[in-house]
Amino acid sequence: MQRTTIILSVIAVILGAGCAALGYLWYTQNEEYKEYRADAERTEASLSAELTSTALALDDANTQITRLSGTLDETSDELREEKDRNDEFKDQINKIAGTVGDLDKLSKTDKELLQKYSKVYFLNEHYVPESLREIDDEWKYSEDRQHQLHSKVIPFFENMLEDAKDDGINLWVVSAYRSFEYQSQLKGAYTVTYGSGANTFSADQGFSEHQLGTTVDFTTNGLGGGLQGFGNTPAYEWLTKNAHKYGFVLSYPEDNSHYIFEPWHWRFVGTELADDMHDDGTHFYDEPQREIDQYLLHIFD
Ligand code: DAL
Ligand code: ZN
Repeated sequence: MQRTTIILSVIAVILGAGCAALGYLWYTQNEEYKEYRADAERTEASLSAELTSTALALDDANTQITRLSGTLDETSDELREEKDRNDEFKDQINKIAGTVGDLDKLSKTDKELLQKYSKVYFLNEHYVPESLREIDDEWKYSEDRQHQLHSKVIPFFENMLEDAKDDGINLWVVSAYRSFEYQSQLKGAYTVTYGSGANTFSADQGFSEHQLGTTVDFTTNGLGGGLQGFGNTPAYEWLTKNAHKYGFVLSYPEDNSHYIFEPWHWRFVGTELADDMHDDGTHFYDEPQREIDQYLLHIFD
């Protein structure tokens, strides 16, 4: 019995010690865990605080970016408006400069060049083109004769005759600029021969387009230097198709109300007007003078 009691006591002591050890172990483990938790919670709190402040900073940056982009939009709108204003201003200046330039050019252009010489409109005895130049021998029917043209018409005239030549067409000048005085002598001589019949093919002095220095009479192969029959030649056909490209028009077509049909007589009026009349199938004396006047500005362009 005593032995049993001893054994039981020993067992009890052992169990007690084991429990105490277990208790201690649990206690110590639990404290470590608590510390670890506290640490973790502190870290989490600090990370969360950092995240919050980073998010706030990002929010801030976002607001600033939005504001800056708004400002940029406004600035680029203002710049665009400023540019539009400048462009408009530049256009206005160019327009004014263009108008001033045009007026200046027009004031220096001979108004007579596009007038219709009729019984009411004429050139006086003092009218002489601003500058005359001798036509090259190559383009004259007779090299012994002098023929002059307005110097600004010469380049158009030469281009036309060179292109005609390239197409196998010979055009030779038999009459070009005529002074008031010369026209007077010519008309006088015709009148002696033909009487009043001369009025059907020869203008009185002051009424001839030849006094402008922009008009030429042509002959071609097979006419012996004359004018009769010119209307039936390839040269006339070529001119009716092409002369407008060089600014020349036929002044007196068939059935005109001024003179007989003069297929040899071509007047320079500028390419713009000649092209338009060619397109419309009209003739110089059919056009209202106010329409014709619009073409003066660019007559030599
Ligand atoms: N032969 C034209 C009409 C002139 O004399 O001008
Ligand atoms: Zn003529």
